[in-house]
Amino acid sequence: MRTRDVLLGVDELPRHEAVRLLMLATGRTRPDVLLGFDVTPVEREAFASFVERRRSNEPLQYIEGIVAFGPVELQVELRVDDRVLIPRPETEYLFEQVVEIVDNPGVIIDLCTGSGNLALALKAAFPTAEVYAVELSPDAADVARENAIHNNLDVDVLVGDLFGPLPGELMGTVDLVVSNPPYLARHELVDLPRDVLAEPEMALIAGETGDEVLAKIADGAYQWLAPGGVVACEISEFQGLRAAVLFDRYDASIVEDLTGRVRYVIGSRGFE
Ligand SMILES: C[S@@+](CC[C@H](N)C(=O)[O-])C[C@H]1O[C@@H](n2cnc3c(N)ncnc32)[C@H](O)[C@@H]1O
Repeated sequence: MRTRDVLLGVDELPRHEAVRLLMLATGRTRPDVLLGFDVTPVEREAFASFVERRRSNEPLQYIEGIVAFGPVELQVELRVDDRVLIPRPETEYLFEQVVEIVDNPGVIIDLCTGSGNLALALKAAFPTAEVYAVELSPDAADVARENAIHNNLDVDVLVGDLFGPLPGELMGTVDLVVSNPPYLARHELVDLPRDVLAEPEMALIAGETGDEVLAKIADGAYQWLAPGGVVACEISEFQGLRAAVLFDRYDASIVEDLTGRVRYVIGSRGFE
């Protein structure tokens, strides 16, 4: 059966998703799939099983098992599965802004590292920096460690609550604290698309208000940062006012994404 006929048999998925799943099932490129070739029965069976998983709302990226993160020249390739959040384009934009702002950092901390996306891309951007990645979920930390090995990047992945597992001697010496923390309130769970619900709840929900983890980062980062050090976090589009209050002792700005939605708080510790 030709690729076109295989794709026509799947009307329950958007075509671009069906194409990606057929690429995965056959190991062929997008142009190959679009130009057409004969799909073997074994490949058709694999494709059918991927389509079934997607129909059950498993995210496409979990089925593919791999995502790229960061601009081409600093890109890392991440293995992802249901132990970690799928890195989002908004977080790539946080990374890009941080790389513009920070100059030759010596020590970097990524809190709530998940797949390790920010920590690993920052290590790629600043190879001489000491990079620490902290994650509460031991399963997610395993994924971050696997990704560090896969990308041949030396990042120290620590399991624990925010600043808790960091070596104490780093206090007051850190040049950059980044985080894409969980920032949803529990009641927002019901509004999420079903495939987002397949991602770990711990990666999405901060608590009853959604501000809980951000508040702890705002509170803790001050003492870990060196004078002039930068803290940069992703926030929800409804958290701008709250973030401005939480980060009021920093020289902080609430920053919009490329679509004009408030999505980041970026600040620095003063030199006093
Ligand atoms: C929104 S996800 C972000 C993952 C990744 N940094 C990214 O950008 O895709 C938040 C991550 O923080 C972890 N996490 C939640 N609470 C935490 C805490 N108190 N300390 C450390 N990690 C935490 C979750 O397990 C999850 O992996």
